[in-house]
Amino acid sequence: MEAFFAALESIGFVEALRFSRWTYAAVNTTHIFAIALLVGSALPLSLRLLGLWPTITHAHVARILSTTAGVGLVLAVMSGFLLFATRASEYADLAVFQIKLVLVLIGGGSAILMHLRYGWDIGRAPRLALRRAGVVSVLAWTGALILGRLIAFVGD
Ligand code: HEM
Repeated sequence: MEAFFAALESIGFVEALRFSRWTYAAVNTTHIFAIALLVGSALPLSLRLLGLWPTITHAHVARILSTTAGVGLVLAVMSGFLLFATRASEYADLAVFQIKLVLVLIGGGSAILMHLRYGWDIGRAPRLALRRAGVVSVLAWTGALILGRLIAFVGD
């Protein structure tokens, strides 16, 4: 695995990214924008799953907020991968980073399973499943956000 991470770090455009202040800043800003879109969409969606705003249908809320959260997640994964590649061996060793990735997998996996099963009309899901998805979503995305920010404080 070490050899793989070292090879990743030495790819031409990854090296260029590591040493380019403004390109790195642009990718970092994209990551922040993606996180804002993802967490800013996932939280109100989760609150609806937990029972807030009962007069607004789950299908309407999900149609808008699941789409924007999905776009945010895809952008976060792409920009996050580029940031990761610049110092892959270092990040991969950090427990904070590893747990953050597990939370991203749990949050993304839970949302994908829900939509594969019920499409946009997630209101068809049993109430318990909706509540569970809401709790998982709040914990996974706020946890990933906090751990993502912490990486800068625990690394060398
Ligand atoms: C596979 C997906 C992801 C990867 C590989 C990834 C990777 C990274 C990396 C390498 C950094 C730079 C850490 C540093 O040196 O300070 C970072 C920063 C960060 N990430 Fe991610 N990330 C991903 C998804 C997410 C998601 C989904 C969230 C939030 C829900 C998130 C939240 C953050 C935050 C808050 C920062 C700190 C940004 C800053 O202070 O400039 N990341 N991420």
